[in-house]
Amino acid sequence: MKYTFCVPCLMGVEGLVADELKFNKFENVVAENGRVFFDGDMSECARANVTLRCGERVLLVVGKFRATTFDMLFEGVKALPWEKFIGKTNAFPVKGYSIHSKLFSVRDCQSITKKAIVEKLKFKLGTNFLTETGAKMQIQFSLMNDLCHIFIDTTGAPLYKRGYRLAMNEAPIRETLAASMVKVARYKGREPFYDVFCGSGTIVIEAAMAAMNIAPGARRKFDAENWSFFDTSVFEEQREAAIARENRVKMPIYASDISPEAIRICTENIKRAGLEGLIEVSRKDATAIDYTGMTGTLISNPPYGERLLELEEARDIYENLGAALKKAPELKKYIISSDERFEDYFGKKADKKRKLYNGMIKCNLYMYFK
Ligand SMILES: C[S@@+](CC[C@H](N)C(=O)[O-])C[C@H]1O[C@@H](n2cnc3c(N)ncnc32)[C@H](O)[C@@H]1O
Repeated sequence: MKYTFCVPCLMGVEGLVADELKFNKFENVVAENGRVFFDGDMSECARANVTLRCGERVLLVVGKFRATTFDMLFEGVKALPWEKFIGKTNAFPVKGYSIHSKLFSVRDCQSITKKAIVEKLKFKLGTNFLTETGAKMQIQFSLMNDLCHIFIDTTGAPLYKRGYRLAMNEAPIRETLAASMVKVARYKGREPFYDVFCGSGTIVIEAAMAAMNIAPGARRKFDAENWSFFDTSVFEEQREAAIARENRVKMPIYASDISPEAIRICTENIKRAGLEGLIEVSRKDATAIDYTGMTGTLISNPPYGERLLELEEARDIYENLGAALKKAPELKKYIISSDERFEDYFGKKADKKRKLYNGMIKCNLYMYFK
């Protein structure tokens, strides 16, 4: 049975998620603001959950319709074939959001959606009592410009929860954003790779996972594995296939940070990711490294500086970093910062910029190719 799926993602990475899906031969890939659609069966759904690096979750599209009144929403939801998915005991909480739409009260839309599903299920399943004590099927709705999409979330805990990052240093970057930067840099593991502000190690771990073909979801479970409307063994099959494709070999990947605590945490996370001995970690001040003649790729997330004093300190770091990196014209540099004046302090205009969001913080990825 074929379905349409939707992969929500951080703003700014839609194109990367679409590329990932197309490269991995998913069908009918269509990118929109903040999300990407594709078609496939439940085995493809499992493959997306296990392998996607840049998307946040995989939602099964139950239906879509226009809704400008609560009646339209109720009837639209009720018309969908809920009995094909939800059983007598499944729990089906509802959440959602509304953007640029007449129906803007999320709470009202939530309760109307719930009511419509309950009514349909009671009728179709021939029962007056839905226990909701069984496996969870999280219902989601999105209203955008009065177009309503209704989904069931197949993922559960978001895809950025890879499982390797128990230990966190201050201000860690989201795993999906780190993976997106690695993808923007087209890093494939053939050349040296550096993160000189490694913190908890997210960027080097994501770089290593991409280069070694380690699927981020190969060792975690997904909500849809507890459902009963399809053969859930497809998830185990996809995990096994992904693990068989892994190629864990030592690569020239280097992580450093000025803080001993960050180094301890980074080392712990590398171990948790099964990459012990494959990434070199050392304590260094990024502004005091002798970069002379270095080649390859550097991706870093230096401190942003939220308060004024911190901002001044962060800007000092950008200035000193810019000066130190002048010695490595061959090194490709990708630096993410929320500071609009980053280039002024770094001392060089970026060859290219890309707007990315680190959670809610608007950032730019400053790219230097020479
Ligand atoms: C925004 S955090 C990096 C977070 C990291 N990307 C992660 O996912 O955990 C910035 C890091 O820069 C480090 N740092 C600050 N000044 C530094 C310097 N001069 N040299 C190297 N690291 C520095 C901090 O210790 C902190 O770990």
